[in-house]
Amino acid sequence: MTNQPTNPIFNGNKLKLGTFCTNTIANMTFAPDRADPTWANSLAMAHLADNAGLEAIVPIARWKGYLDDKPDHYSNIVFDVFTWAAGLAQATKYSSVFATSHAPTMHPVLVAKQCATIDAISGGRCSLNIVGGWNRREFDMFGIDLMEHDQRYVYLEEWLKLLRRLWTDPNEFDYDSKYFHMKKAISRPQPLQKGGIPIMNAAQSPTGMRFSAKNSDIGLISPHGATPADWKPEIDNYKRMAREEFGREIQLWTNGAIVQRDTQKEADDYLRTYTEDYLDNECVDSIMLTISKENNVPLGSERLAFMRRRMSMGAGHPLVGTAQSIAEELVRVSEAGIDGIIFTWVDYVDGVQRFVRDVVPLLEQAGLRQPHFAPASVPSRASA
Ligand SMILES: Cc1cc2nc3c(=O)[nH]c(=O)nc-3n(C[C@H](O)[C@H](O)[C@H](O)COP(=O)(O)O)c2cc1C
Repeated sequence: MTNQPTNPIFNGNKLKLGTFCTNTIANMTFAPDRADPTWANSLAMAHLADNAGLEAIVPIARWKGYLDDKPDHYSNIVFDVFTWAAGLAQATKYSSVFATSHAPTMHPVLVAKQCATIDAISGGRCSLNIVGGWNRREFDMFGIDLMEHDQRYVYLEEWLKLLRRLWTDPNEFDYDSKYFHMKKAISRPQPLQKGGIPIMNAAQSPTGMRFSAKNSDIGLISPHGATPADWKPEIDNYKRMAREEFGREIQLWTNGAIVQRDTQKEADDYLRTYTEDYLDNECVDSIMLTISKENNVPLGSERLAFMRRRMSMGAGHPLVGTAQSIAEELVRVSEAGIDGIIFTWVDYVDGVQRFVRDVVPLLEQAGLRQPHFAPASVPSRASA
């Protein structure tokens, strides 16, 4: 329904690419070359991604970090995702600029208007990641309860229904339920993208994935298993559920953590430096405890250990090696059925530069992507 040519997440590239978390520090490490989450860095990374034709610039939505009583901890430093996306929308020409909503902290009327505004600024390139929350510290600041896990998705479904109605309904409407009390609701302008802004959702649980299959354009997943070949059954099942139960085609994306160097040894050494010598163990432990408690992942389980290893690297599938070996692994990721992947790096600007220069051409040679030619001008905003 939202298949619009203005938004590159619907382009013909078999493996779509993007940056992740450039509005904060993704890596729980004290490595000296860890990039600071300044606006200048956000902008530099967005320009690199945009000029290279990467499809997505995805932030993380975080009102507060992961440690209590440590106001100066770097995990507290997170740019607001909507105003950040609006700034990047103006500064870019091609990539889809994502915002991310913590649905229970933001009324649909607010999000409808913010997204429509970003869509107008970007000429139809806004996308929205919707999350129900898990980090209770954030909800405590708002004085609202973090809902029981599965109930989050019941709430999210109603919230999204209202958001889409605001984006599409030609008339004002009343709506009254347990959670929402709306009288003569309207949101203008509606998005340039007809049918509304494309929706991403990063559910991992069976309840959440079912929600995502039913409601989202992109499911952002962390498939079980160390290698892409292990992921295939899970990916096939997910897409089958969307198709057979809900009559929908859904893209599945994942996230990756890149360490790219000229030799494998250099990459391995650097990985060891930031995930062992400089790892912020206190922070990673705190995240794991919170995930275990709020998302029902048992302490001591293999799944939690897997998530900890990933979180130590930057929260995604490890892509550690040379440009050639990273490109080869991305071919395997695509063969497993993944349609897109968003990345973190410790030193983002250097990392994105290397990746765009050395890996992207190899993906083009492998037939996963078409060469990108930066458009000469910003898309027309005449109708915004
Ligand atoms: C790649 C990725 C990105 C995510 N981004 C956010 C985010 O920006 N903000 C947030 O609160 N949660 C985020 N989450 C957490 C999810 O919304 C969700 O809580 C988590 O994946 C657990 O899934 P479940 O609710 O199905 O158990 C993200 C998860 C993943 C895997």
